[in-house]
Amino acid sequence: MTSTWTPSSWRNQTALHQPEWPDSGELDLAVKQLSQLPPLVFAGEARDLTDQLARVCRGEAFLLQAGDCAESFDTTADSIRDKLRVILQMAVVLTYSGGMPLVKVGRIAGQFAKPRSSATETQDGLELPSFLGQIVNDVGFSEQERRPDATRLLTAYHRAASTLNLLRAFTHGGFADLSQVSTWNREFVASSPTGERYAQMADEIDRALRFMAACGINSKTEPALHEVDFFTSHEALLLNYEEALTRQDSLTGDWYDCSAHMLWIGERTRQLDGAHIEFLRGVKNPLGCKIGPTATPEEVIGLCEALNPERIPGRLTLICRMGADRIATGLPPLLAAVRDSGHPVVWASDPMHGNTYTAENGRKTRSFDRIVAELTGFFDAHRQAGTWPGGMHVELTGDSVTECVGGGDGLDEAALEEAYETMCDPRLNGRQSVDLAFMVAELLQQD
Ligand code: PEP
Ligand code: CO
Repeated sequence: MTSTWTPSSWRNQTALHQPEWPDSGELDLAVKQLSQLPPLVFAGEARDLTDQLARVCRGEAFLLQAGDCAESFDTTADSIRDKLRVILQMAVVLTYSGGMPLVKVGRIAGQFAKPRSSATETQDGLELPSFLGQIVNDVGFSEQERRPDATRLLTAYHRAASTLNLLRAFTHGGFADLSQVSTWNREFVASSPTGERYAQMADEIDRALRFMAACGINSKTEPALHEVDFFTSHEALLLNYEEALTRQDSLTGDWYDCSAHMLWIGERTRQLDGAHIEFLRGVKNPLGCKIGPTATPEEVIGLCEALNPERIPGRLTLICRMGADRIATGLPPLLAAVRDSGHPVVWASDPMHGNTYTAENGRKTRSFDRIVAELTGFFDAHRQAGTWPGGMHVELTGDSVTECVGGGDGLDEAALEEAYETMCDPRLNGRQSVDLAFMVAELLQQD
């Protein structure tokens, strides 16, 4: 690791999972144009999120990080609205049951780049570059669609800007009003086969709202009931893009990656001597780092030292994605090592990426039960270690897709053919997501 950090010092290290751009002139031009465009977020907002995550670190709040595996450039306003709606529904259930604030972070407004296990894909004897997210190429299988196209970096920026603009409007313009969100949850409970199990909780939330209203507390008197803080995040994979949006804050002189409030490092790019760690250690945004089943205690402590040497609470979130079968053995040694080192971290569970499998019809899927099993293992491990299970990180959409099996509606593998729409990993649909929130609410109540 180089000792002096600059926005471009990552270039001295090995950067894995970068596209092979066929035209370096095209890339240079796109990056130059990006670097002249306004930041998407303000440094003060990123600091705010660090403060909120510091509360999670202290066991005083819970983190919900959720959204698409890979966002599409063609996402409609309705789809953005419905995704936000599901996240807000989940947040209300978790807030009520945990009795503490929820920190809400979307995998949204910039989650466009994907690392892939193989650089190429072969179909009927034709080998082409893998789909790397619409910020790089397109999902269709033709030479032209799969060619990495640097002008897409600019399209990604503009799509992120318009998504963020809509999110800011929704979260501050009345759409997120608490009584409204509660009504959606009642509707879910009334129409879901497993709803009965949650009816009591939904009633209690309603009663609490009526009690507050009777006391004169409503969304007119109390802006907190009418607006929500909602933050953006994505995997900081394409370092050219991230560098171009990294700016020096005029108030503090610190550097921030202004492409999103929070950035995370993926499981495939968390090498201690790699370019991703080098880049992200120098920006002041709150960071996430995925932790898979092969991570050793030494590696995890190394990540804490590299990414948070000043031990700032809220700076670093470790997002475990072990798989339901491995969490009970894999997580406890890591929890103990980090606890004993005194490093302040937020521990979050990503119960999606360690539980992906191929269904008999060839569809990549995940089972709701395995997702719940990993979350249960996560809570158990924390209970035993005396540490705080600080949050969950899930891939979801508000659309009525059929990509994951199970959940209250009992989707089976045959149902995957009905509405399998994801460009990358299988997502929970709206109903499965709210279902999951009620289940995690029960786990939280046991704490
Ligand atoms: C993801 O979050 O979409 C992802 C690729 O995860 P991971 O890095 O944990 O495999
Ligand atoms: Co994914």
